[in-house]
Amino acid sequence: MSLSTSTEVLAPLAVLGSDVQVPLASGEKVGYAALDYAASAPALQRVWDDVAAYAPYYGSVHRGAGYLSQLSTDLFEQSRRTVAEFLDLREGDQVVFTRATTDSLNLLAAAVPAGTRVFAFETEHHASLLPWAHAGLDVTYLRAPRSRAEAVAALDAALAGAPEGPKLLCVTGASNVTGELWPVAELTGTAHRHGARVVLDAAQLAPHHRVSVRELGVDWIAFSGHKLYAPFGAGVLAGRADWLDAADPYLAGGGATRTVAREADGSVAVQWQTGPARHEAGSPNVIGAYAIASACRALREAGFDALEARERQLVERLTAGLAEIPEVKVLNLFGEGSARVGVLSFVVRGWNSSHFSAALSAEYGIGVRDGLFCAHPLVRTLLGDEDVAPSECGAPEPSLPGERSLNAIRVSFGAGTPDEHVDRFLTAVRELVTDGAAWNYRNEGGRCVADSRREG
Ligand SMILES: Cc1ncc(COP(=O)(O)O)c(C=O)c1O
Repeated sequence: MSLSTSTEVLAPLAVLGSDVQVPLASGEKVGYAALDYAASAPALQRVWDDVAAYAPYYGSVHRGAGYLSQLSTDLFEQSRRTVAEFLDLREGDQVVFTRATTDSLNLLAAAVPAGTRVFAFETEHHASLLPWAHAGLDVTYLRAPRSRAEAVAALDAALAGAPEGPKLLCVTGASNVTGELWPVAELTGTAHRHGARVVLDAAQLAPHHRVSVRELGVDWIAFSGHKLYAPFGAGVLAGRADWLDAADPYLAGGGATRTVAREADGSVAVQWQTGPARHEAGSPNVIGAYAIASACRALREAGFDALEARERQLVERLTAGLAEIPEVKVLNLFGEGSARVGVLSFVVRGWNSSHFSAALSAEYGIGVRDGLFCAHPLVRTLLGDEDVAPSECGAPEPSLPGERSLNAIRVSFGAGTPDEHVDRFLTAVRELVTDGAAWNYRNEGGRCVADSRREG
């Protein structure tokens, strides 16, 4: 696909902020190169416009007899249906609006039947790794696999040896560290053969790939609006209704109840709702839900074929450029060249990653992320024997006493990313590696900041 065609096709995915100017350490201004989509993607212009058009009509949801309350309620429920279509849900599946992926997975952890054993690879983001034990469930952590086939075999073996009873696999669709795609359909098939259910953490998958719950066969899926170009504080948990309807409500309060009655003995008897309302107590975030629905519509309109093709171009440009810089080591779990979304982490020999990232920002106007990316076990595994230099800047996620300071750099992109951002990034990496930073940096409250221009 030629660039001009893809630009045309991707018009519904224009993003806000593409003309924002930021100051460099020198005082000059440059256009900001946003290469941290995996943390929070910019809003789609379309999402922003839809929210702005709705804002004057904003009203309460599921409470209120007035016209705007009715309209807002309809919009909220229509947003649920749009998300269900976007995810290609099955008949009977539910869409629960949450705050984000972390909230969605904590909700599910609180809802699974008592005695459920959860299986999770140690490579998961903390949002997929931690809610289960936190909710008092038994968790089997599977070692980091070094290939997709090894992941499937490890799960198969673990489930074969698991005791009877309800079981749940939590797996990510695309790694927030390496960007690599996980074999979700194969893992789900394996899990189902052993009677285990599956929840897919699609926080990094849904913004980059078409996701069909029906085709993948997963039982639940979770994602965040702010990573899907809809940064208005909402997320989604969608999937099978049975465990959700049988569970205690995630939050107790208005909207989750059918009836509440004072009993003769002084207690209060509650009949809880079934369906999404059971877990959505309190006034719903209608703007957040509507923003997600708007992003879903725009992504479907542009088509994932076009978005994926465009991202592949950028990933190829990036990986080819980095491959020419011997000091750069790209982090992969499944080997070089494995399929990935527009997310890539790396280290630079002889450099502290915080220092390097600070120089990318202060000297080139490029925004990336450095650290352990809320996936400490995975990044520690990937960096195990890397020569990552500590520096006067230290690391923003401090190492334990006696442990080496470890962190990496992550670059991530998606809709609206121009070639120029990737090219500027590659030029910056080459220049920093060859010539060093042009500025001295100091640690200011854990942040690496440019201090004075380097002599000579
Ligand atoms: C793979 C993955 N899962 C879960 C999360 C948590 O998402 P949120 O912070 O939106 O709750 C993230 C966030 O970076 C992520 O990358």
